[in-house]
Amino acid sequence: MKKVVVGAAILDGDGRLLAAQRAEPPELAGGWELPGGKVDPGEDDHTALVRECLEELGVVVAAGTQVGGDWPLTGDYVLRVWLARIIEGEPEAKEHLELRWLTADELFDVAWLPADLPIVRAVQGHLGGI
Ligand code: CDP
Repeated sequence: MKKVVVGAAILDGDGRLLAAQRAEPPELAGGWELPGGKVDPGEDDHTALVRECLEELGVVVAAGTQVGGDWPLTGDYVLRVWLARIIEGEPEAKEHLELRWLTADELFDVAWLPADLPIVRAVQGHLGGI
């Protein structure tokens, strides 16, 4: 079985994407990612996505279209990403250093983690809406 990390490409009503700056581990700290995390044993991907967004950002999200398939991560992990909308709450950096809403023009102004960069390119085509 593949080990799965889920990620949320959270869009707002103005076509902006939420980027989150990692606080740890040291080798990833300062890099920007789509919020998310590991799927727990016995947990389904969607439940993990909602749980991680609640833990990391304090928001409830509704997931839409999946962005691509299994994106490679280091080790045995793959990253699965869905477009998402916030349906409850205002995002706060509970586990990240900083959050930023990026417009289409600002999409590559942050130092995305290597694994996330091709995914953000794929998200670029969806900024009009989910
Ligand atoms: O919080 P949890 O331990 O469940 O997972 P995480 O530390 O957020 O994610 C596990 C690993 O996936 C990280 O160490 C990152 O290498 C990678 N990851 C990533 O590259 N891009 C993301 N958007 C999310 C995770």
